[in-house]
Amino acid sequence: MITITGLSYLLAAILFIVGLKNLGSPKTARKGNAMAMLGMLIAIVVTLLDRNILDFIYIVIGLIVGSAIGAYVARTVEMTAMPQMVALFNGFGGLASTLVAYSEYIHHGQHITGPDISITLVLSLLIGTVTFFGSLIAFAKLQGLMRGAPIVFKGQTLVNGLILGIVIVLAVFFALDTTRIELLLIIIALSAILGVTSVIPIGGADMPVVIALLNSYSGLAAAATGFVLYNNILIIAGALVGASGIILTQIMCKAMNRSLTNVLFGAVGTDDSGAGQAVTGPKSNVPQYSAEDAAMIFDAAESVIIVPGYGLAVAQAQHVLYEFTQLLQEKGIEVRFAIHPVAGRMPGHMNVLLAEADVPYDLLLEMDEINEDFKNTDVALVIGANDVINPAARYKKNSPLYGMPILNVDQARTVMIVKRSLSPGFAGEDNELFYDQKTMMLFGDAKKMVSELIKEVKEL
Ligand code: TAP
Repeated sequence: MITITGLSYLLAAILFIVGLKNLGSPKTARKGNAMAMLGMLIAIVVTLLDRNILDFIYIVIGLIVGSAIGAYVARTVEMTAMPQMVALFNGFGGLASTLVAYSEYIHHGQHITGPDISITLVLSLLIGTVTFFGSLIAFAKLQGLMRGAPIVFKGQTLVNGLILGIVIVLAVFFALDTTRIELLLIIIALSAILGVTSVIPIGGADMPVVIALLNSYSGLAAAATGFVLYNNILIIAGALVGASGIILTQIMCKAMNRSLTNVLFGAVGTDDSGAGQAVTGPKSNVPQYSAEDAAMIFDAAESVIIVPGYGLAVAQAQHVLYEFTQLLQEKGIEVRFAIHPVAGRMPGHMNVLLAEADVPYDLLLEMDEINEDFKNTDVALVIGANDVINPAARYKKNSPLYGMPILNVDQARTVMIVKRSLSPGFAGEDNELFYDQKTMMLFGDAKKMVSELIKEVKEL
């Protein structure tokens, strides 16, 4: 029978799906976000009205406290701290699934009769708890609360496999006798250990890929909980998060030219950015240029491609960069931005950063759209990017970057690189472009250097 609840859930599901589709382009992303939010609002309100809730007190308290914390954190979080915030969100999503599924068992344990529901209950507890503890480790690594580098011990993969094996055996015993609560508690404890041991071997800077994966897990946990609760919208929403998370994980791995297995078990990666380590040589080995020198080149230029990278986010130079862009445009110079899929530290990092400064979307071009244009461009202005322009990716077989598609910055007539030193980027690979004859190294903090460029170009 078709019910109002069923129809509302259907509407919410449509809003989720169309919202997701709209998130695919920066132009429609805001609309997509609003649609998905509306879908979630409908789902929550309908669920609250439908479930014959006797006392709304705890729900209202939870809503107020949760909304207040969420609004505060979203407003104050630094752009560079976004990955760890998303990690926490995923973790709490997983924890919520575990708690809801467990309390459902405590209250209505007698309903959990068939093996299908007992299996989804165990899945919910397993995935939800792994997500929570894994996300806490990811948060701690990215926040610098623990060592960011991979933590490995002998037989780690074997231990993880063994834990998973024991959980499966316990799940079978539980399905045979669903009154055995102690089995569920052991499963939760083992899942917590698995969450920790599966994330500690991952390098701090690989964490964004793992966060996308944990995001997918949190969706799967929610979907499993949906089966336990017989709640269709939770199943749909969870499945959507699960699927989009795994697609995102794949996209990130592909763009970094890494396999997921290599990210999860390869123990690759250094502390956080890798920047600031393994300085290759003194700056004095490389000619240094000033903003004044650069301004002369801009004076004669007709076309400029700006390549933003992680350093732009660190320096928070997006606003001054857009000011500089407008200044060049006023001088009749064509300015565009080349966006590498893994520039920065999270998917869409550069898009979000530049949108924050109101840079029009049509100035932002994906790597495939703009890569052929570098050879006809006067100046490639690189701001805080390194790995995504490193030519070693094309030929150096033993480099961690080997095979990753890069932006063809080296084909521009003049290359300007704004960064503070000769330090390598995330991958720890020296960049030969710094020493190239056509490269002008503009050493300094991106915000400071771009501000100087504005001053010098204005004075021309
Ligand atoms: P990176 O290769 O990490 O280079 C960033 C550069 O920014 C550093 O070399 C650093 O040099 C410079 N920098 C830092 N702070 C700065 C500041 N205040 N002012 C100016 N420059 C500053 O960045 P990228 O080119 O964006 O490449 C991203 C890397 O991260 C890739 O290897 C990618 O695989 C990896 N990664 C990306 C993602 C996603 S999804 N985006 C996820 C995980 C890993 P100095 O210290 O000399 O200033």
